[in-house]
Amino acid sequence: MTTKDNLIESAKTVLNSNFDEDKGFTIPCEGLYPFQWNWDSGFIAIGFAHYNTDKAKREIEALLSAQWENGFIPHIIFHNDSDTYFPGPDFHLSKLHPLASKSHRTTGMTQPPVLGFVLKELYDIVEDKTDILNFIKTNIDKVYHNHEHFYTHRDPNQEGLAFIYHNWESGTDNSPIWDDIWDTMNPPNYKFERRDTTHVDASQRPTNREYDYYLHLIEIAKEHHYDDAKIAELSPFLVQDPLFNAMLIKSNAALIALYEIIGDAADKISQLKQWQTKAIARFNEKLFNEKLGAYVHYDLRNEKQIEHVSSSSFAPLFADIPDEARANTLVETMTTKFGSENRYLCASFDPDSDRFNPKKYWRGPVWINLNWLLYKGLKSYGFYDLSNRVKEDSITLIEKYGFYEYFDSRKEVTENAGYGGNNFSWSAALLIDFLKS
Ligand code: DGY
Repeated sequence: MTTKDNLIESAKTVLNSNFDEDKGFTIPCEGLYPFQWNWDSGFIAIGFAHYNTDKAKREIEALLSAQWENGFIPHIIFHNDSDTYFPGPDFHLSKLHPLASKSHRTTGMTQPPVLGFVLKELYDIVEDKTDILNFIKTNIDKVYHNHEHFYTHRDPNQEGLAFIYHNWESGTDNSPIWDDIWDTMNPPNYKFERRDTTHVDASQRPTNREYDYYLHLIEIAKEHHYDDAKIAELSPFLVQDPLFNAMLIKSNAALIALYEIIGDAADKISQLKQWQTKAIARFNEKLFNEKLGAYVHYDLRNEKQIEHVSSSSFAPLFADIPDEARANTLVETMTTKFGSENRYLCASFDPDSDRFNPKKYWRGPVWINLNWLLYKGLKSYGFYDLSNRVKEDSITLIEKYGFYEYFDSRKEVTENAGYGGNNFSWSAALLIDFLKS
């Protein structure tokens, strides 16, 4: 077998060992993340689609089985019990919301909405188009309902941009982007037992004080029974995130394409196109920062852009949001700020910033899922050399260090440059897609 074949077989072994045959979902990694995570499952299904359609379908079905009556899809589904993770279901108390899932314990927060484009990826990858289209027909309206929830309950100014009320909703957890928001808060010092730092070195995880902010935001949401209107009125954390909204816009486009294939969905296509037109226009108007030459986050609570460049700044390329001129500006920013020869692409935060940390979770390390989004986006705009570099850097990091959760961007670090959880599912799943595409 070639190196490529060996890598694919190793990746399949990781995915298969993390898959819960009984409950039909895949843990991101043992110990650290012992439940089903929302956007993780989307990327995992893409990996399965290359060799086990049934598991790809079950992954999506397990996630959608916990969708709330109002279309909301939580970020964690507690299908099982585990004491290796904090905060668990007894802290989140999703049942506080009257429309929360009655069959599953979940969190009351979500994650970047990937299911729309994941269904389209499954359609493109799986050879038996009749079979996969039947699966998509059965589930697509649930994903549409999720988008309806965002534009109805998470867009108070009707701009076409959804807000997030917790840093865990962003997918980029402890990013330095949130640091100025933490400075506006003064939560109590909660008493709790960290579980994540029993699995991963504390130098690679958020601080206890950061967990105080995270828990306080959840306590505020719980106080108002996870009511979106109350959260929009009261949460000190209220952000329009370019990664989150780029995922929603890409998924809008995917739903339109899939409904056109399925047929007899004129009303839904029309509504999706209305959301899409408004979203892209407002995204380009409100989330681009000319001085930085990149898309940035908007702090809706404090009514200002958060002027930092991160790997999320380039995610709009995946969703066909920038015009050609702005795409060129983004590439210039990525190349100059993130793309020096002594670095692997793409660090998750601006390497020149004093907030950059090469080992600590989303404060600088390279993540395979963001790299996959950037690879696809750069390729779609014709930046083939840069997209290939992102792909090759991703493959090289996994080949050198294994299927870690995140990696050191500095090439001068030549040992133990994989960080966080090991045998990490989306690193395996997306490596398969990298090597198969
Ligand atoms: C965490 O880091 O525990 C969050 O759940 C990530 O989503």
